[in-house]
Amino acid sequence: MAISSTRVALYIALLSIPFAYLYPGIQRVVTVLGVFRTPATVQLTSSEDLVYVDGTIHCEDVHYHAPSHKLFTACEDSPVTRFGWFPPLAKFNASVLNQARGGLFVIDPVTKKAQKLELEKFRGPFVTHGIDVIPDPGKREGEAVYIFAVNHLPNPEFYSYASGYQVDPEATAGKAVPKARSQIEIFYHKVGSSKAQHIRSVWHPAIKTPNDIFALSPQHFLVTNDHYYREGLMREVEDIYPGAKWSNTLDIEVSDLSKTAEASSGVKVKVVVDSIHNNNGLSHGRTENEVLIGSAVGGSLHFGSISHDPSSVQVGDILYLDSAIDNPSYFVDPYGGTASSADKSGYVLAGLGRAIDLSKTKHDPHGKDPVVVWYAKKSEDGAWNTRLLFEDDSSRIRSASAAVLVAIDPAKEDGKRRAWLYVTGFISDHMIAVKVDL
Ligand SMILES: *[C@@H]1O[C@H](CO)[C@@H](O)[C@H](O)[C@H]1NC(C)=O
Repeated sequence: MAISSTRVALYIALLSIPFAYLYPGIQRVVTVLGVFRTPATVQLTSSEDLVYVDGTIHCEDVHYHAPSHKLFTACEDSPVTRFGWFPPLAKFNASVLNQARGGLFVIDPVTKKAQKLELEKFRGPFVTHGIDVIPDPGKREGEAVYIFAVNHLPNPEFYSYASGYQVDPEATAGKAVPKARSQIEIFYHKVGSSKAQHIRSVWHPAIKTPNDIFALSPQHFLVTNDHYYREGLMREVEDIYPGAKWSNTLDIEVSDLSKTAEASSGVKVKVVVDSIHNNNGLSHGRTENEVLIGSAVGGSLHFGSISHDPSSVQVGDILYLDSAIDNPSYFVDPYGGTASSADKSGYVLAGLGRAIDLSKTKHDPHGKDPVVVWYAKKSEDGAWNTRLLFEDDSSRIRSASAAVLVAIDPAKEDGKRRAWLYVTGFISDHMIAVKVDL
């Protein structure tokens, strides 16, 4: 997302589609980008209802893994890297990568402390973005997990590693070489340990602008490419034009998980979704076959159904939100469905209150990006019941890109249904946990 209001007008003129036809579309774009939204802040009844999670810098994604009762996230090590090198925001100063490296973190929802995992057998930069966490199918539940993570590496054909990631003028002369060569990293983590072991990297030319991951098994996963264009004017057109369904979701299978495998060896890739504008966050849904695909600038959540042999994804229902949204999540209510407590399971969607401002704020480490978090439930008759669960003017949390709920035992809340909502942002100094009513 990188758009300014004058450009909105410019593109619409450029696209030269009859205005009357476009009008409802324009209204929707104006709403989703938050052009007229005034940032607001939820008042908390007690200061204990808000916790800043220390050491969680620029974590774009967060997952709650119920069997181990732990949260997993991928973050940067320093506030410097994201504002220098982050291909998803078209930031390409690779020399900042000499200064710091991202990592994987585990958050204990009881203490709200983040622990950085030591990455075994892993070298080189780690520029973090979307992740997924699935149990090791060969172990008892909650014992060990595979962690999949996007890593936005600089392209060695463009930057010379030997010179500390300076542009290699000889190699790039007269060639349209992409600056990034993003790949997927697969790690293995024994729950409770302080380490994650690198299993292998996965790269294929079709993995261009990876954003998020949905793992089906240790050797099979989906990846969204959020854009077709990596930078430049056409990328901005792609951001703003709802008809720009040029990005896709890939189905990827790797034939072996041995450390010696080259990133590109034994990688089978197939496009499974190519009908969604700005495919962005992915999440596991209500059932095993339900995949949630967020359209970021589209402000919509798309419900896909996965079929196997051959793998395919059928995209069906769409839930429209009144803001840009990023990584979706599905909250499974462990205390719901009893006579005394209704089932509060539902979809949680974090996003930007004013995506319209991002083209400016993304350059400013002290900028403000207000956030909104939606909570959506489908009633028996199929109607959506969507409400704002949390919002902030960016003073407590900036640029929300993922949010997950962790339920609180009603016995500890005088029978009230409450939960800790973890909200994280791709350019937020920290993640927060905030107590909310369900
Ligand atoms: C790129 O990052 C390096 C290291 O932080 C910094 O010295 C340099 O000024 C940056 N270059 C640009 C063009 O911002």
